[in-house]
Amino acid sequence: MDIVHVSPELAPFSKIGGLGDVAAALPVAQKAAGHKVTVLSPRYGGLDTTALGFARRLVKVKFAMGSGPVSADVHEGRLPSGLDVVLLGVPGVSDRPGVYGEGASGYPDNHLRFGAFARAVVGWLRLQPKLPEVLHLHDWTGGIVPALLKEAAAEDPRFAAVKTVFTLHNLAHQGRFSPATLADLGLGAQYAAHDAWEFYGDISWMKAAVLGADEVVTVSPTYAREVLTPAMGHAMDGILKAQRPNLEGILNGIDTRTWDPATDPHLAVHFGPSVLVGKRRNKTALQARLGLAQRPEAAVLGLVARLDPQKGVDLVVEAAAQLVRQDLQLVVQGAGDPALSAALQSLARALPDRVFYTDARDEALAHQIYAASDFFLVPSRFEPCGLTQMYAMRYGAVPIVRATGGLVDTVIDLDPSLQTGTGFVFEAASAEALAGAVGRALTAYQHPGFSQVITRVMRQDHGWERAARHYLTRYEALLAPASA
Ligand code: ADP
Ligand code: GLC
Repeated sequence: MDIVHVSPELAPFSKIGGLGDVAAALPVAQKAAGHKVTVLSPRYGGLDTTALGFARRLVKVKFAMGSGPVSADVHEGRLPSGLDVVLLGVPGVSDRPGVYGEGASGYPDNHLRFGAFARAVVGWLRLQPKLPEVLHLHDWTGGIVPALLKEAAAEDPRFAAVKTVFTLHNLAHQGRFSPATLADLGLGAQYAAHDAWEFYGDISWMKAAVLGADEVVTVSPTYAREVLTPAMGHAMDGILKAQRPNLEGILNGIDTRTWDPATDPHLAVHFGPSVLVGKRRNKTALQARLGLAQRPEAAVLGLVARLDPQKGVDLVVEAAAQLVRQDLQLVVQGAGDPALSAALQSLARALPDRVFYTDARDEALAHQIYAASDFFLVPSRFEPCGLTQMYAMRYGAVPIVRATGGLVDTVIDLDPSLQTGTGFVFEAASAEALAGAVGRALTAYQHPGFSQVITRVMRQDHGWERAARHYLTRYEALLAPASA
């Protein structure tokens, strides 16, 4: 099959969260299964792609927005993973550094930025001698692409055969804009109709995707069930239930090559499930580097997350006084909400030998935290899939997670004898429930059999092969003559 992915984030260029990792890894697994796979992503400002050997094509992609003709630069290259990438530079994107915005605020003209990108995607396809069989879209920024393809099919019948798959990574971000923005994109007012993209008086790109894509999938089986409920559907549950009653969740994987403690170039010492001494040395190295007390016996609890209400990091702040009464150290890396960031900063300032916090976006440090931590906190209020708990497991940090979304599908609660299970799962989104789970973890930490738990956790297989195969069967079903 010829498959093209369209993603607003792509590691290592423009990773904001897990989507950047998914867009760089799922296609590689599909390529390994014998398919032709390309990823299209915006070329944000300040990206240095020349070091990776990317070249700018002479040909430009031309398309029209509401204000008139626009053109996009095309940069092509191949990542060290073997992934073929096309970066499209459009106005408002290639001249600004942010993906969705800068600091804690989004750009006010994201409809224009991602609208131009969406039109550039269709324009780029038009230049191809052969169109892909599958166009795989990720999250709301790609929501209008199915409609653009249908419009393109009126002039170029090849477009009618392209199947679209939409992966919903996070329903909290839906791309809601005023109906007036349709004209800016050169789209007709018919899209503002209630049975089109209208959503509580706005238009919603997420709704456009849910209605327009040939297939909609989300990133874990539990999240697939949750988003069909009013409590967790972000007001989209009714539409999802009507349009996609059998919404399927395909659990994300992780890139086990990039995330391998046996080879990771960011680590002080390499280690594996059967030789854990290297893990202890990573812990000592991180304690030294971050100015924490050099105490190998203290349990290190890591946390790496965007500071967003989704992630429940406020529960950690609330529980902190209780947590630090025990023999543990807290290492938190995360940027986002300024109030939460300030609270973490004052915690770290008050207890510099017990708590470390940074708001740095730093990939190397994140790897070091996974490797050094004994436990890893993911107290999310909701979590479509979550990759951090899987990275933590691969690096021997036992996850402590709230029972929601993909966390339920990847972590099994440990029994008190430590014979079965892969982490600590708590139900309520409360500081007490979190502290209770940490208490259980610290008890297990003292248990003579704890190193066997680490080994078991590290041996879990979270590679992409299973999900890649699953997606391929969805594509095949769409392309089968019976579904035409
Ligand atoms: P989400 O996509 O909701 O942010 P995921 O768990 O899927 O959650 O993915 C988060 C990704 O972002 C992980 O790769 C994590 O290591 C990374 N990450 C989050 N914050 C930072 C940061 N400040 N620096 C480096 N990596 C980070
Ligand atoms: C989203 C979700 C996260 C998921 C990631 C990749 O950002 O918040 O749970 O792991 O997408 O699918």
